[in-house]
Amino acid sequence: MASFIIKGGLPLSGELRIHGAKNAALPILAASILASGEQEISDVPKLLDIRVMIEILNHLGVKVTHKDHTVSLQTSTLSSTRIPEPLMGKMRSSIFLMGPLLAKYGEVTISRPGGCAIGERPIDIHLDGLKKLGADIIESHGTISCRARQLTGAQIFLRFPSVGATENLMMAASLAKGTTTISNAAREPEIVDLQDYLNVMGARVRGAGTDQIIIEGVEHLTPVSYKIIPDRIIAGTLLIATAITRGEVALTNVRAEHLQALLTNLQTSGIEIRTYNDIMTLKVSRGLRSIDLIETDPHPGFPTDLQALMMAYLSTVEGTSVVKEKVFEGRFRHVDELNRMGTNISTDLNRAYIRGVSRLSGAMVEATDLRAGAALVIAGLKAEGETIVENIHHIDRGYEKLEGMLQALGADIRRSDES
Ligand code: UD1
Repeated sequence: MASFIIKGGLPLSGELRIHGAKNAALPILAASILASGEQEISDVPKLLDIRVMIEILNHLGVKVTHKDHTVSLQTSTLSSTRIPEPLMGKMRSSIFLMGPLLAKYGEVTISRPGGCAIGERPIDIHLDGLKKLGADIIESHGTISCRARQLTGAQIFLRFPSVGATENLMMAASLAKGTTTISNAAREPEIVDLQDYLNVMGARVRGAGTDQIIIEGVEHLTPVSYKIIPDRIIAGTLLIATAITRGEVALTNVRAEHLQALLTNLQTSGIEIRTYNDIMTLKVSRGLRSIDLIETDPHPGFPTDLQALMMAYLSTVEGTSVVKEKVFEGRFRHVDELNRMGTNISTDLNRAYIRGVSRLSGAMVEATDLRAGAALVIAGLKAEGETIVENIHHIDRGYEKLEGMLQALGADIRRSDES
């Protein structure tokens, strides 16, 4: 199994372009099957979760290639509506195919999805919404079969603003008969990107980015070319990595409006950030302060996907900071691993108390999920001596060669394929 070997201590510096967003590309690739014909989606990162989505589309009969960062699809050859268990188990986001398959082909069969080891991750909000649109859903022995001759528009209230459920229902409702209103919808930038893509295809969706999305169903959608928005979590990762190493970088292809909660917190702790169009610079030039409380929340709140990384950074800042995880239960599995590197973090239910320490030390640690793994890597960039992060397949799910990005900014990190 591959691992990263990191020699810490070098401040990051230089310039880097941020690639397209995995979390926007996944639902958009799923949505592509809503239109029959040839499509091109550009700025799609080459990472594991995308590879799995392409594998599933291939399995369904769609012809897909991913060359340079463009995915070309021929969706009219789709010949199956069943996603087999081994593929479903590889990635939770395969659930995005439910809405499109059901809307366009009237049926879909999946098994319960796999994914990151962060809490329960149920799919009841997806299923309840699809039922509201008129789907018959039968669940037995871990297989979920949905059917609907014609989905019909409905008023749907989400009990929690789930990102995936909002996206799934937007896709399904695009081809439903009549108007659908999704209330308490998630407001993430990736949802706006999906709305833009659907509308370019001829859908009539409005309200994404607010908590109410209205979809007037249309009879069919047309294949198009589309470019994915930049990945705000990768940008956030590199900003936090620069902060922890006390470096100075310029990132391009960044949208500051997608990162407000992170930027505000970094600035509160004394970091200097400037933006000019899609360029963002970060510099550490003075003493840094701890942060009283950061609470993760659905967008525009502080993103749960940056929680572990922020904790690693706060560990290197004098004083006590508190982080409260409000989106996923059990998303603190990185704490024990970080503490092995010399951090002083304790947890109590969904709160973590981070006491700043003067030094981190290299250790052998294990990535337990995607973002937890990234947090260990950036802690390794700061730590004295050598850090080995094992099980980096988790990290590869969401970063296109994280080591390459960090090397480009001057870090000493390499990948080993030895076990
Ligand atoms: C998406 C992101 C992920 C991010 C998360 C929260 C993608 C591919 N992934 O995941 O990186 O961490 O948003 O910002 O975009 N829930 C239910 N029932 C459901 C669905 C969700 O109870 O049917 C709960 C979850 O267990 C969790 C919370 O709602 O506690 C948020 O989940 P959700 O917003 O759906 O996250 P994902 O779409 O899976």
